[in-house]
Amino acid sequence: MTGRTWPNVTIIRHPVVQERLTVIRDRNTGVEQFRRLIGLIARLMAFEITRDYPTTPRTVETPLESCDGCILSRGLTLVPILRAGLGMAEGVHQLLPSARMGHLGIYRDEKTLEPITYYNKLPPNIAETDVIVIDPMLATAGSLIAAIDVIKGTGATSIKVLCLVAAPEGIDNLNAKHPDVQIFTASVDRCLNDKGYILPGLGDAGDRIFGTA
Ligand code: PRP
Ligand code: URA
Repeated sequence: MTGRTWPNVTIIRHPVVQERLTVIRDRNTGVEQFRRLIGLIARLMAFEITRDYPTTPRTVETPLESCDGCILSRGLTLVPILRAGLGMAEGVHQLLPSARMGHLGIYRDEKTLEPITYYNKLPPNIAETDVIVIDPMLATAGSLIAAIDVIKGTGATSIKVLCLVAAPEGIDNLNAKHPDVQIFTASVDRCLNDKGYILPGLGDAGDRIFGTA
């Protein structure tokens, strides 16, 4: 969608992810299918986002002999941004059921596009864990910047963003504030329109997940 690249942005180009993304972009895709597919895509993307997480050796006894294996070394905290992040977080949680989940409620003021934070419930001690912030839409990045400000306030330093569709303007804004954060997305789209919506995008993610349009 855009020829630009950023060193901290990974675009997950797996054909299954791209096919599902095409379906959910379609304006004719209904609420039920949209919600199911957004969870499925998130689960697939979670494989890639966790690829470099450190492991600790662990030996188990198979029915025949002992076998050297591993476990993830650090705890994991998923932080969906309400509302739309919930749809993706459920899919990631299915892959990583031992992850703890924190919630941040943030919406954009429709006129100013400024983020308004209305809910904050993070688990204790997330500073010692790897954190994945989840929101399908990275538009101006105001919401993600506000979320990461809060998460860094807890002392957390290992923070990644999982989104579905990102705008180049939002990536630049996020990188200006939090250049240490890696971004994983299924697409970097063309641009934002004058109302702050991503083009071509998929519309209002929260409305499409919860049927509130
Ligand atoms: C959407 C989306 C992101 C935000 C992205 O939420 O889920 O959180 O917009 O825009 P930004 O990058 O410009 O901040 P919305 O404000 O529609 O809230 P909702 O999920 O409660 O509907
Ligand atoms: N939020 C959405 O849900 N969609 C966009 O395109 C931009 C922000």
